Amino acid sequence: MSNNPPVKISDARPRLRQLLALISMFGTPVVGAIAALHIARKGSRITRFLLLLVILYAQVDKTHEQGGRKLGWIRKLFSWKLCADYFPMALYKTAELKPNRPHVFGYHPHGVIGLGVVIAIGSDALGVKDLFPGVTIRPGTLEINFQIPFIREILLNCGFVSVNESALDAVLSNNESVLVAVGGAAEALDSVPGTNKLTLYSRHGFVRLALRHGAALVPMFGFGESDLFEQVDNREGTWIRWFQENFKEWATFSPLIPYGRYGILPYRRPVTVVVGAPIDLPKVENPTEDEVRKWHRVYMSSLRSLFDAHKEELLPHRTSDLEFADQVVAKL
Ligand SMILES: *[C@@H]1O[C@H](CO)[C@@H](O)[C@H](O)[C@H]1NC(C)=O
Ligand SMILES: *[C@@H]1O[C@H](CO)[C@@H](O)[C@H](O)[C@H]1NC(C)=O
Repeated sequence: MSNNPPVKISDARPRLRQLLALISMFGTPVVGAIAALHIARKGSRITRFLLLLVILYAQVDKTHEQGGRKLGWIRKLFSWKLCADYFPMALYKTAELKPNRPHVFGYHPHGVIGLGVVIAIGSDALGVKDLFPGVTIRPGTLEINFQIPFIREILLNCGFVSVNESALDAVLSNNESVLVAVGGAAEALDSVPGTNKLTLYSRHGFVRLALRHGAALVPMFGFGESDLFEQVDNREGTWIRWFQENFKEWATFSPLIPYGRYGILPYRRPVTVVVGAPIDLPKVENPTEDEVRKWHRVYMSSLRSLFDAHKEELLPHRTSDLEFADQVVAKL
């Protein structure tokens, strides 16, 4: 316990700085895209040629499937700290992790963009390095993100890798750790403020991955992640939902129509990322369905306990508890 009473900041300037930091960090890709379009249309031969090279390089380089790049300077930018304070966002652990051993972290819920992953794990803003010394956590993101020039460099610098199974294998073989937002694009479609609807019953791949490497499974919950954006009403049965589901099958990502503060920014609502206790798994080269199911159940119950232990304190305004979108399907 600290003796100092919390200081209330009534000054408007920190809030403005936080807002500008958020816009600059998440607006950078947009500026890059506009610049690239401008070069493509109006650039000289030389600049167009360079643009072509950069685009080609993004298609052939496979660093994101080969263990990723050394964590770099972009993670250390002070603007990440301001971004975290915008919500504000915090990161807590409930147990220690073994250094230099592989872990498979599951992050829930995915939310619209998984800002808890980007800021708490993809940057040093909340001190993840000091919280877990000797544990390098590499978040997995869609392959397609690494085919976009410039954005891929930012992602690689921040430690991201492809969620492709062989890409995750490469990381774990180095005794580094991976983080997977298990529910993925399907869960993103269900992200609605006040709720925590997961797609997890039918997702077993991350458990099999951990078993094959003898990696510890670590549940992680982003309390407030789903409060950051509203979405255009896409409940089951609406034509928007029908379109989104079909588009997702084809494109691997969901065409979401989120909105928030000033239209496109996330709301200023608290997000608390809590890292649960590791579940030690045996190393099994070729796990059977039964073994995978068994550990999946252990993981689910550990995640439930993590949610229940903190929900009253961290989500007092929730409208529902943990729900599972794929529960019925899995029981058939
Ligand atoms: C995953 O990576 C492997 C090896 O790099 C590659 O052969 C495979 O096509 C990739 N799979 C997908 C779905 O991208
Ligand atoms: C990973 O850790 C294990 C156990 O400590 C060790 O035997 C192995 O050599 C390490 N592998 C690498 C690539 O560091």
